[in-house]
Amino acid sequence: MQVFKDKTILVTGANRGIGKSLVSALLNHGATKIYATCRNLKSMPLLADDRIVPLQLDITDDEQIAQIANVALDTEILINNAGTLNPGNMLQGELLGMEHDLAVNYFGTIKMMRAFAPILVKNRPSTMINIVSITAYSPLPSIAGYAASKAALYSATLSVRIELAKDGVTVYAVNPGAIDTDMNKGSDWEMPDPDTTAVKILDYVSAGKLDIVPDDMGQGMYAAWREDPEKLSKMFSDLYYLEK
Ligand SMILES: NC(=O)c1ccc[n+]([C@@H]2O[C@H](COP(=O)([O-])OP(=O)(O)OC[C@H]3O[C@@H](n4cnc5c(N)ncnc54)[C@H](OP(=O)(O)O)[C@@H]3O)[C@@H](O)[C@H]2O)c1
Repeated sequence: MQVFKDKTILVTGANRGIGKSLVSALLNHGATKIYATCRNLKSMPLLADDRIVPLQLDITDDEQIAQIANVALDTEILINNAGTLNPGNMLQGELLGMEHDLAVNYFGTIKMMRAFAPILVKNRPSTMINIVSITAYSPLPSIAGYAASKAALYSATLSVRIELAKDGVTVYAVNPGAIDTDMNKGSDWEMPDPDTTAVKILDYVSAGKLDIVPDDMGQGMYAAWREDPEKLSKMFSDLYYLEK
């Protein structure tokens, strides 16, 4: 299925990491126009393609969201990619970091979904893709606040999937394992690069898979969770005590 060809697409957090790679992959899929949004336009990489429209957008900023929703009225596919990760466990981690992850990953994405739902309904058949995390299924305690924000986002995504099901908007959840981006700077894990990951995400969406785990590590974790949620919890417990 050619989901992305000849479409107008908005990507949040498009200046680096998975978001930047999604923009490149979308160009290769034949997108007509990509609203590549990020907090600071000076951090946007040089994008030598006139299908790209760079726009400033902090997804926690209500005014900016309203402005963008007034400009990007032709959006047919919304990719909620922007996210933050503040490490720390539940009992000792910085509360401010946890609040920030919730403000961006959960409430920021909810605000984007609310602002763009009417646009996507008007432009149906349309698509919403939320980049969540494998930690939505089970928390890794060294990033407990982040995991909680992603579990909340996954729940919100499943809710919106049902809320929009009869309005011609298909809602996808992408739950990657660890990907080699700034978010994992300093980690010595073997991780796939964001370019390969972005290509896989688009392939899974094109195949009509609603819940997507694009990488091998994530798929191993997802398989364990599907077999028995306690199995993934045990994997994360082992990782947590290994890291400590
Ligand atoms: N890397 C992984 O292992 C992994 C695994 C599972 C899920 N994910 C998810 O994948 C998504 C992309 O992450 P990444 O790995 O590409 O990380 P990244 O390289 O750290 O990129 C994060 C992106 O989010 C943007 N961002 C942060 N706060 C924002 C805000 N308030 N408004 C708008 N944009 C904001 C950043 O912009 P600035 O440059 O302005 O900070 C940046 O573009 C995130 O939702 C992340 O949780 C990543």
